[in-house]
Amino acid sequence: MAGFKTLDDIGDVTGKKVLVRVDLNVPMSDGAVTDDTRIRAAMPTIRELSDKGAIVLLLAHFGRPKGAKNPTQSLSLVIDAVIDVLGHSVMFIPDCIGEGAKAGVAVLAPGDVAVMENTRFHPGEEKNDPAFADALAEVGDLYVNDAFSAAHRAHGSTEGIAHRLPAYAGRAMEAELKALDAALGNPAHPVAAVVGGAKVSTKIDVLRNLVGRVDHLIIGGGMANTFLAARGVDVGKSLCEHDLVETANAIFDSADKAGCTIHLPYDVVVAKQFAPNPPTRTVNVHEVAADEMILDVGPAAIEALGDVLKTCRTLVWNGPLGAFETPPFDTATVALARTAAALTREGSLTSVAGGGDTVAALNHAGVADDFTFVSTAGGAFLEWMEGKPLPGVDALRV
Ligand code: 3PG
Repeated sequence: MAGFKTLDDIGDVTGKKVLVRVDLNVPMSDGAVTDDTRIRAAMPTIRELSDKGAIVLLLAHFGRPKGAKNPTQSLSLVIDAVIDVLGHSVMFIPDCIGEGAKAGVAVLAPGDVAVMENTRFHPGEEKNDPAFADALAEVGDLYVNDAFSAAHRAHGSTEGIAHRLPAYAGRAMEAELKALDAALGNPAHPVAAVVGGAKVSTKIDVLRNLVGRVDHLIIGGGMANTFLAARGVDVGKSLCEHDLVETANAIFDSADKAGCTIHLPYDVVVAKQFAPNPPTRTVNVHEVAADEMILDVGPAAIEALGDVLKTCRTLVWNGPLGAFETPPFDTATVALARTAAALTREGSLTSVAGGGDTVAALNHAGVADDFTFVSTAGGAFLEWMEGKPLPGVDALRV
């Protein structure tokens, strides 16, 4: 892959200690991992290195222990899930640096896989302290980063170490970088972006970046209300950040200058209360009553947005269009996701999605597997959509 070394370039790893940064920051409930997507994402790299006879040492963080040991954030809690997914034994090493780490590594044989304790138990990790990165690098011979979802952090195990050992992108990282390049780096035009979610305030930088890069910007979710308000629409009781109307106007202006069309819903589904299956009305945006709130995009707008996608070659999607967790306000998100999935299956659209809620929404629509690529990243995917440099990715560039 241009600009990066991958496992194709790593050479003979037999008996070499390979430190592999993975993302094991998985959700847990009652002591069990509730979603092992991130563990599964790391498997191709782990298996490939293990099959080639490397000693595979997994580096990861878990939660935000702020530089102190905390048994509730020990990666020993995740090891059973790693064993389940990998299908053979995995050792746990109770530290990631120093004598504790080295003693654990010394007993491993070629092909073995071990999880090392939470890198964030050391204050030097989040500070990207050179002494901590040196100590990490002493534990291995080679470094592989397979954790795109932690690449927005300039930490010892994501950035510092990459300057100290020969560094490679793992298979999951490679797939992310290729997909993201196809979506916004060097995409086939026209490009559409769907940006939804509750608040404009969390996505101002995403919107600012996208208007200069995409041909169609589809704004949905609660944040669309702020843009409708900026256009003079009375959004009633809807979620709306009235203090950001000026920001919305500035985004409209930049879009005009850049030749990007912003699409807002012109019909909407409204209710007087936000609860499952309340009485609803489908109305033109100019007909929202003072005691009603907008909770989903309406059917006419969904059809029009589907027609926009049919003219596009590339789609990048972050955030739901309506309050999708509460029925029936999942209708628009499900319908547009299914249109995107069908266009992707037909081969006319490259579709890339990411961000926590987005993955949940696509799974809910039953189409996550039909998208060209669904990122496992939350914050890193957003920072990439904002056009910000990702330190963990930049440190791998050759
Ligand atoms: C995530 O869960 O998005 C990544 O693992 C990064 O975690 P962080 O936000 O605690 O750095």
